[in-house]
Amino acid sequence: MTKLWGGRFTESASAQAEAFGASITFDQKLASVDLKGSLAHAQMLFEQGILAQDEWTQIEQGLKQLETTLADHSYTLADEDIHMNLERLLTEQIGPVAGKLHTARSRNDQVATDLHLWMEQHVEALTTALRELQSVITEQAEQHIETVMPGYTHLQRAQPISLAHHLLAYFWMFERDVERLTDNQKRIRKSPLGAGALAGTTFPIDRFRSAELLGFESVYPNSLDAVSDRDFVIEYLGIASTVMMHLSRFCEEIIIWASQEFGFIELSDAFSTGSSMMPQKKNPDFAELIRGKTGRVYGNLMGFLTTMKALPLAYNKDMQEDKEGVFDTADTVLQSVQIFTGMIESATFKTEALKKATMQDFSNATELADYLVTKGIPFREAHEIVGKAVLYCVQNGCFLKDLNLETYQTFHPDITEDVYPLLDPVQAVARRTSYGGTGFAAVSEQLELAKQHLAN
Ligand code: ARG
Repeated sequence: MTKLWGGRFTESASAQAEAFGASITFDQKLASVDLKGSLAHAQMLFEQGILAQDEWTQIEQGLKQLETTLADHSYTLADEDIHMNLERLLTEQIGPVAGKLHTARSRNDQVATDLHLWMEQHVEALTTALRELQSVITEQAEQHIETVMPGYTHLQRAQPISLAHHLLAYFWMFERDVERLTDNQKRIRKSPLGAGALAGTTFPIDRFRSAELLGFESVYPNSLDAVSDRDFVIEYLGIASTVMMHLSRFCEEIIIWASQEFGFIELSDAFSTGSSMMPQKKNPDFAELIRGKTGRVYGNLMGFLTTMKALPLAYNKDMQEDKEGVFDTADTVLQSVQIFTGMIESATFKTEALKKATMQDFSNATELADYLVTKGIPFREAHEIVGKAVLYCVQNGCFLKDLNLETYQTFHPDITEDVYPLLDPVQAVARRTSYGGTGFAAVSEQLELAKQHLAN
């Protein structure tokens, strides 16, 4: 088969090298956006008088025909990539006039355009999926404003909190991810089309028109930058890594909470698996798998950053390495968010176990210290006194609420009967009314704010 670029060659390609250089096995994902880009380019060429009416009509019909038969095409390695495969198919369909489509265009600006268009669609889909996850989080939070649970630092019981507060912490992480994706779209919706191979073109093209036809918001002002910029990809891979990092943290907590030792959550059967040997097992496989897949998403970011390192201007074949990592990341992160959403939506929180946990620990120690402060004792001193009381309890196998007044007064004479209600974990949560705190009223306000963000 002769190459579309075969004019200056006398020998045919090495079969192994040809297969090594080809990207068609993976860049066929770009077929639909490639046709879209070609259509806009051809229309602009026609409007600028570069293509004649009948040429434009034939090319337009041919491209539209290829779009409707997209699933049936068979591509060849010999045609290297999706751009040349589609050009050959167009030629088979409409004859030599197809060759005019590539006027004032190079595969360098073509592939960059395709990637911008593909990423735009994906980032939109990922944003929608994250919004759905956030909405499920708010629904679960709504049910659990008054569910108290232990709050942790260093994975040690710290202070009791509202479960809704814990869940909403993740809402805000995903909110920042959505903000980052929205900002990423500004760089994605920028047109490289018409930059040519690197230097622009002698034809009287209108880059703003083709950008407008494709729904881009702006046009790269420098043709060298247009064809060699992959910042928008790296930025996306970084955001996707952050989304996975957030998911992996939530997954880790779910895995711990689903253990028998914690018993804070029951995952639905639909999002759990059994063991082939141990009949009693119900494993949080999907949370583990999402946690695990975070690794490959980070790998794609590091891999492609390294590919781009020290590349001279403008296009270099190295840049063909952008696609597999991006496609893999896109699939992984979108599926992870969707699976995770189903898992959270169908999970049951064990409210009694959560509450019981707060009764059997020292997470009310801060309440006792704060109580002493209200009696005029400096906080440092109060901290020391409570520390001694906790040690006494540890040595005597009880909790702070179990100490009688007589014992309390050996720690400090100002401790009176009014201390006991404050040691109740529900009170400890309710009283944290500061903005952004875990108090029930503060959490209700926070939930309202979260819903407002979702509505926008
Ligand atoms: N398949 C190539 C890529 O993905 C398309 C651009 C090739 N341009 C070139 N001059 N070899 O990057």
